[in-house]
Amino acid sequence: MAKILGIGNTVLDTILTTPHYPKENQELRATAKKVSTGGNINNTLYVLSQLGHEATICTTLATDSEAKQLLSGLKKRLIHTEHIQTFIQGKTPHSFITLNKENGSRTIIHYRDLPEVTFEHFAKIAVETFDWLHFEGRNIENLSGMLNIAKTFLATQPISLEVEKSREGIEALFSQANLLIFSHHYADEKGFTSGFDLLQHIQKNIPNTKLVCTWGEKGVWFADINQSIQHIPAEAVYPVMDTLGAGDTFNAALIHHLIQGSPLNEAVKHANHFAAQKCKQFGLDNLLQAASQQQPIANTKQLNTARTLVVRSKNHNQSIILIKHQDTVKAYKNNCPHQNIPLDEAYKIDVNPFQKTIKCSVHDAFFNIEDGLCIEGPCRNESLATVEITIDEQGDIYLV
Ligand code: FRU
Repeated sequence: MAKILGIGNTVLDTILTTPHYPKENQELRATAKKVSTGGNINNTLYVLSQLGHEATICTTLATDSEAKQLLSGLKKRLIHTEHIQTFIQGKTPHSFITLNKENGSRTIIHYRDLPEVTFEHFAKIAVETFDWLHFEGRNIENLSGMLNIAKTFLATQPISLEVEKSREGIEALFSQANLLIFSHHYADEKGFTSGFDLLQHIQKNIPNTKLVCTWGEKGVWFADINQSIQHIPAEAVYPVMDTLGAGDTFNAALIHHLIQGSPLNEAVKHANHFAAQKCKQFGLDNLLQAASQQQPIANTKQLNTARTLVVRSKNHNQSIILIKHQDTVKAYKNNCPHQNIPLDEAYKIDVNPFQKTIKCSVHDAFFNIEDGLCIEGPCRNESLATVEITIDEQGDIYLV
């Protein structure tokens, strides 16, 4: 377990899930609303605390009621809050986020009217008591002095800098960090068309720093000190539920694996995988639990239209009937509504591929494969309960 200090912004996120991305001037009904604490540094520290580290935030808060909400959110996330700077002038920074249900994309409209951490505030922190310092690449006028202090007081502890956007003067600070994590937004803004081109350019001037550039679906480029630039592809995720905070999750997992002594290529590989797992769930809660539970229940190669496959999901503690139907897969709870017993209690589940039905082996109830409706037998007009599944590009079937 390491002690990690993160310096950056804390934000209140209002997340509206929409069935698709809205058109300009459209009125669109959201299907869900969630208010949560956010901000890159806050999110990264939350993931680091889930990965077993002691995370402390250095950020600013206002004095309005939303700031109280943020403070209790940080505490719930087990992030230490003793280095927060409070401002009476200004309001809590707020992001209004549209989460598109079709593809998990997140569109952020950010409002801020609050000063950022001052140099004087940061200078009072005993930075040498931490094992790692992670900075958001913003607040450039103060960041320069903060990095100078950090460099002066830290003997061996690494400093990482997240470079998400192009900000005036940020390039002059690159040589102060041991690890630079670029996003493709920065590369785009600087006119680079790949992470390779960006890192090649950076490496010329900053040869003694580990470099990483994440590029969404195009994968990740990285280069260790004095090493050539390498690339790993993005992991296929299907369906993508929520990409909000995926980059912050990547950064946390990267720092975590480097702290554990992994070489950069291994750390990037793990971070890439962990960020992909995050995209399969809403929010950042219980990331470790969700990652370990994401086991497929079957693969489409095991299925055909003439027989059922009954699988047991240990995590969900239920027995599930799977069968191929036209070009999809149908999944039902293995529970006959007649007597609440499994359909294969007495014998296997017979399939009639012509009538497109399956039969309960106990009292001969026939159910449509298409929709689970009982069309003949003692529970006529009742239905098998549908089980929600998703299938990835490899044909692996997961419970939702
Ligand atoms: C996600 C996030 C949100 C926040 C926004 C700030 O990476 O940190 O939580 O609202 O970005 O830019």
